Amino acid sequence: MSLTKEDIEKFKKLYKEQYDEELNDFVAYEAANHLVNMIRAVYKPIPKADEDLYNKLEKEHEAVPEDKKIDFVKHLVEDAKLTEFKNEIGEKKYWELVRMANGMILQGNQVNLKKNFLKENYPQLLAWLTDLEIIGYLYSAKRMVGFRTTKDIKNFLVKEKDEIFWRIYTNDDKFIGYTSLCSFQGKEQCEFNIFILDKNYWGKSIGLEVTRLILGYAFNRLEMKKVVLETSEFHQGAIKLYEKAGFRKVKVVPNDRTVFHNGEWVLSGSLMMEIVKKEMQDKDVIDLYAKLEDLGIKIWIDGGWAVDALLGEQTRSHEDLDVAVERKNLTKLREYLESKGYNEIKRDEDKMWDLVMGDDKGHELDIHAFSLDDKGSVIAEEYWDGYSSNSLTGSGIIDGQTVRCVSPEQLVKTHDGTKRKLKDSDHEDMDALCSKFGIKL
Ligand SMILES: CC(C)(COP(=O)(O)OP(=O)(O)OC[C@H]1O[C@@H](n2cnc3c(N)ncnc32)[C@H](O)[C@@H]1OP(=O)(O)O)[C@@H](O)C(=O)NCCC(=O)NCCS
Repeated sequence: MSLTKEDIEKFKKLYKEQYDEELNDFVAYEAANHLVNMIRAVYKPIPKADEDLYNKLEKEHEAVPEDKKIDFVKHLVEDAKLTEFKNEIGEKKYWELVRMANGMILQGNQVNLKKNFLKENYPQLLAWLTDLEIIGYLYSAKRMVGFRTTKDIKNFLVKEKDEIFWRIYTNDDKFIGYTSLCSFQGKEQCEFNIFILDKNYWGKSIGLEVTRLILGYAFNRLEMKKVVLETSEFHQGAIKLYEKAGFRKVKVVPNDRTVFHNGEWVLSGSLMMEIVKKEMQDKDVIDLYAKLEDLGIKIWIDGGWAVDALLGEQTRSHEDLDVAVERKNLTKLREYLESKGYNEIKRDEDKMWDLVMGDDKGHELDIHAFSLDDKGSVIAEEYWDGYSSNSLTGSGIIDGQTVRCVSPEQLVKTHDGTKRKLKDSDHEDMDALCSKFGIKL
């Protein structure tokens, strides 16, 4: 389902009514899509009893002429089932959930991040962003100390159309700064900024936590390949923090900014740093497999990694690791991954996966769950033509270790081109599997 421009305008209007906040197009598009996904998630897996209603709603939407789709988001928001749900959990909790689910809130251990600024933030920002001790190393420090009004701050901050801002709050709700992503070059790269502005909160690892939350968002939610940043070559604290978060130094542009360093204005180079989304390596997969085995969580490798395991060699890099797991182990698996810094990623068309988890390096796990009956046979899924008992019989090799994986027949079956358009690499994989395992198409 794709939302039209009018849907987005409508969403912006609804959002403004609820929160008195203006969303820019980029944020609104993302938020509206996540809202739709959240609504789907609320219904997922769709209880049998609600299936008819859900199908009816889907049909209704399809039947709406293009020029009338304008009301669709409103239709969803006001949908009777959702109202019921809203009444059940209460208005406040409901909107909190909407904001959380659509990425408006990123939750960390010490802080949470909320998108965009509120009017009430500007006086506080004016005080902070004119304090030399706080802003001394920033590119525009010399200009910023001259700001006099909240309008100066507003004009300065909201200059890029597609910059995504988050306000940083401690978990006891104190506003302490902001962070942002900007300068998007498609999904190739974007730029990261961080400002912990309340000095009382420096040196408490909050900077590191915020950086990790935003990197997780950039790699997993926005699917960016690279995140870059710029800082003063003299800003040792920031450089240490960025290196700790995994950024590496790329180059210095000499004499690029004037900074307030050791009590005086001096010329400084700008240090460019970057972090690239990391794909799992065979060693990462084997380490995870072994760790889960120790915890009593059996997984079966699926997807591209299963192709390689069955063929006995890594043929290419893989954006994610697909695994199958018994549904009864799903919570344990999730808890383990969370303890390793993974967070759930909400995905479009997420019916295919029961859970998608990603970390701040860009590693991603797509988890498919299945259940067994009393006799140990796989129970057919209602919403996905998932696994059968025969499909979990594969055995392959990754990094010299034997692993359980889905059968070659299952891989060929799920790559028949009906679910998604196959890439050249898929055809090559399927040819190799068919030839090695004597499978006839
Ligand atoms: C730079 C900034 C983001 C650091 O945030 P922070 O929450 O204080 O940093 P953290 O506590 O997470 O520190 C992470 C690591 O960096 C190190 N670090 C942070 N600030 C440091 C400083 N001023 N001097 C030396 N090391 C510092 C910490 O020691 C820590 O490493 P450790 O755990 O090994 O000790 C924050 O001070 C800030 O926002 N300052 C004002 C605006 C700014 O300069 N933004 C950056 C623009 S490029």
